[in-house]
Amino acid sequence: MFLVKNLDKLNKMTDAMLTAKDIHFSYGEFTVLDGVNFEIHAGEHVALTGANGSGKSTLLAIIAGVLEPDSGEVLNNFEKEPAFVIQQPRFSEQIPLTVEQAVRMGRWADRGSLGRFKAADKEIVEEAMTQTGIQSLRNRQIAELSGGQKQRVLLAQGIAQRSPLLLLDEPAAGLDAESEMHMTAMITELAESGVAIIQATHDHDVAESAGRILHLKDGRLESNQ
Ligand SMILES: Nc1ncnc2c1ncn2[C@@H]1O[C@H](COP(=O)(O)OP(=O)(O)OP(=O)(O)O)[C@@H](O)[C@H]1O
Ligand SMILES: [Mg+2]
Repeated sequence: MFLVKNLDKLNKMTDAMLTAKDIHFSYGEFTVLDGVNFEIHAGEHVALTGANGSGKSTLLAIIAGVLEPDSGEVLNNFEKEPAFVIQQPRFSEQIPLTVEQAVRMGRWADRGSLGRFKAADKEIVEEAMTQTGIQSLRNRQIAELSGGQKQRVLLAQGIAQRSPLLLLDEPAAGLDAESEMHMTAMITELAESGVAIIQATHDHDVAESAGRILHLKDGRLESNQ
């Protein structure tokens, strides 16, 4: 714990890699984010907490660049776009897609539209599947998988993007106790490998084990430090 705290202090002294400045966002008349500010440093594990509807998913989508804020900005100094693992996946219900194909999708951004799938990409995909324990599912259709298995595939797809910043939207939601434990262990391992993680969660233990908690309330962030 002592070590973690010191590491956190050290991170704080280094430059911020991602900065959100005065983010405002509304769905029509309904204001969700009302002046959100924070900084993320390389390798930090941050828990994003807040009640249902407090705006966690919205904020993650803004950091990922999926949604544009009404005002304010997100400055990204990481060398890549963040990898975004969405909440409650509905992907794949229509398109027939195997587990391996879904993880390969994680390589699209790096390959460019005409880029070929190279040996190095294949290796990254294999590693992501091994890390998340889904190699034996590689030829299964996504639509046939359980919720917990789908969640692993999504995490693998995120890992395969090899981004230094991973955005996870409640990756353990709806999982049974054992799968939840596995998911938490995988995320801890990723955090320890130096990937910065912003993880929306309702789980107190997960939030406490992250280096920092950002709590969304009434459109603003409260930080524990
Ligand atoms: N597409 C949308 N159109 C209109 N309102 C929306 C839309 N998406 C979300 N909202 C509203 O914005 C608010 C924030 O939603 P958001 O999904 O970001 O919350 P959350 O903190 O992620 O909640 P949860 O813990 O349930 O996942 C909620 O009140 C929600 O009803
Ligand atoms: Mg959400």
